[in-house]
Amino acid sequence: MTLIIGLTGGIGCGKSSVSQFFGELGMTVIDTDVIAHSLTQSEGRGIPAIRECFGDHFITSTGMLDRNKMRELVFNDDKARSILERILHPLILAEVNLLLKQTDSPYVILVVPLLFETEDYQQIVDRILVVDCDEQQQLARVMARSHLSEQQVRAIIATQTPRINRLQHADDIIVNNQDIDYLRMQVLHLHHEYMLLAQNHSNPSHEYN
Ligand SMILES: Nc1ncnc2c1ncn2[C@@H]1O[C@H](COP(=O)(O)OP(=O)(O)OP(=O)(O)O)[C@@H](O)[C@H]1O
Ligand SMILES: [Mg+2]
Repeated sequence: MTLIIGLTGGIGCGKSSVSQFFGELGMTVIDTDVIAHSLTQSEGRGIPAIRECFGDHFITSTGMLDRNKMRELVFNDDKARSILERILHPLILAEVNLLLKQTDSPYVILVVPLLFETEDYQQIVDRILVVDCDEQQQLARVMARSHLSEQQVRAIIATQTPRINRLQHADDIIVNNQDIDYLRMQVLHLHHEYMLLAQNHSNPSHEYN
């Protein structure tokens, strides 16, 4: 079984940027957000159950999930959030397992924004990589990208695992407080480490044959 690195971090800390760099190095990246997105495109496998549980008005005329509407609903309604999770989580997990079986990458980057909220993924990953940045940068980057207000971004951050908890449970940490080139360099450094770990992972010294 390939070495699986769980990549997580708070909103806007740089998960997608980091995973893109690992991808450019030729490693398989499996992103649970990307999978969730594809399951809720038109004809996506999550659509029938969402339509059944939430009604037609959460599905657009082209047959995809109305993301803005759903985001608003689940942000204010824990029950709705857990129903949505119960629909999507097993589908995402099945897809992750399928992709893991298919890859021959030396190691895999598995991007799970809510890694610490989801038991299943904590069991799958061999190692946890946290992308961190200070809160001012996090706020600025998310606001620049999404046009949310500072208050709205702070509200989202407040729903996520506290930064300190993430850092305490990390095996590796990328501090993304500088420019993109520095981020890329940190990824390259970790890539070399992971290639070594991957060798030991596939040939553990206690196995003789
Ligand atoms: N070191 C950096 N310098 C400048 N901008 C950055 C840096 N790292 C990331 N960004 C920008 O900040 C934004 C957030 O980064 P990214 O999308 O990689 O984070 P994320 O953790 O995937 O966010 P999300 O939680 O929303 O998925 C993006 O617009 C990205 O281009
Ligand atoms: Mg992202």
